[in-house]
Amino acid sequence: MSKTVVLAYSGGLDTSVLISWLRERHGLDVVALCADLGQPGDLEGIREKALMVGAVDSVAVDAREEFAGEYVLPSLQANALYEGGYPLATALARPLIARLLVEEAKRRGAEAVAHGCTGKGNDQVRFDLTVMALAPELKIIAPLREDFCMSREEEIDYARERGIPVPVTTRSPYSIDENLWGRSCEAGILEDPWVEPPEDAYSWTISPARAPEEPLYIEVDFDQGKPISLDGERLPLVELISRLNRLGGDHGVGRVDMIEDRLVGIKSREIYEAPAATILIEAHRALESLTLTREALHFKPLLEGAFARLVYFGLWYDPLRSALQAAVSELQRAVTGTVRVRLHRGSATVVGRKSPRSLYDYGLATYDRADVFDHRCSEGFIRLWGLPLKTWGRARQ
Ligand code: ARG
Repeated sequence: MSKTVVLAYSGGLDTSVLISWLRERHGLDVVALCADLGQPGDLEGIREKALMVGAVDSVAVDAREEFAGEYVLPSLQANALYEGGYPLATALARPLIARLLVEEAKRRGAEAVAHGCTGKGNDQVRFDLTVMALAPELKIIAPLREDFCMSREEEIDYARERGIPVPVTTRSPYSIDENLWGRSCEAGILEDPWVEPPEDAYSWTISPARAPEEPLYIEVDFDQGKPISLDGERLPLVELISRLNRLGGDHGVGRVDMIEDRLVGIKSREIYEAPAATILIEAHRALESLTLTREALHFKPLLEGAFARLVYFGLWYDPLRSALQAAVSELQRAVTGTVRVRLHRGSATVVGRKSPRSLYDYGLATYDRADVFDHRCSEGFIRLWGLPLKTWGRARQ
């Protein structure tokens, strides 16, 4: 009986060829695993394709709800943006896919898991670290950074000889990864950081220049930091995010063009489209500024930056991630209320916010006659607040 490997399968050429490769070169039975994380495409078709190209078995997992609830939501609550711009869609997906691989491998007594990541990217790190944390005994095979070195042409020949379908449509010049939380696009002409991304690098969003002249106003309700309804309609998280991706995309919202620092030391140019993430993070931040204390608000970015870096660097299973998440989650208890956002030609702007837990006090804030703030208190307050400075000023004379 030959040994089994569970392969993270996308249905693309690389992972299809890997099914043959793992059998021929490594003598392994390949079980393909594909996960639905809300990306476009026909998952059942992909599952069948794996069998057609030689997998001994193939499983499709609908992991959308878990992805939204267990990975995306904590990241939203942490307002997590790597290097200030990337909402981490790809990075959040990897530990989940890797965990599914591990579970499948254990169920089948497989000796290894495999993936189609190259040796230059972040994704290999995220897959490997998750497997190392959850199943230290499992072998990890990553042929694209090991023994599988073929040019595009050689790969196509290899595929044709084995009856593996080669996409006939002219292949996208980009490398693309998609899920519910966003779309990542790199390579091709984008590798020149001076070149403006051509329109064909985008697929979820219309160009802001061609977006409707009329803005669209939307309202999102949050319950303890979780978005629960859109324009008053209660929706499961997966559905709410999908709808915001469409609405935002129609108004050109959520395009990000950045140079980012990969864990392996390379700077790379990435184009992201993340309409829902952009809208929800903006809205969530606005509600936090209404409901969190000043101290919590000023401290939270430290948690957020640390969380984003851990996720990006593949350390989802580091205990620090759950500790940060627990702290963020504790602060969400007051983050309940409604945010109104205007979507217009590429921008998502918060224009209103309200909350039963609001810390905004009209009587304190107003300059009108309704003012209840005791102005005289400020005198003594400032005397003490400024005392150290006054002491310094005297000493300097
Ligand atoms: N740079 C992003 C990350 O490391 C996205 C990489 C995803 N891959 C791609 N084909 N664009 O998370």
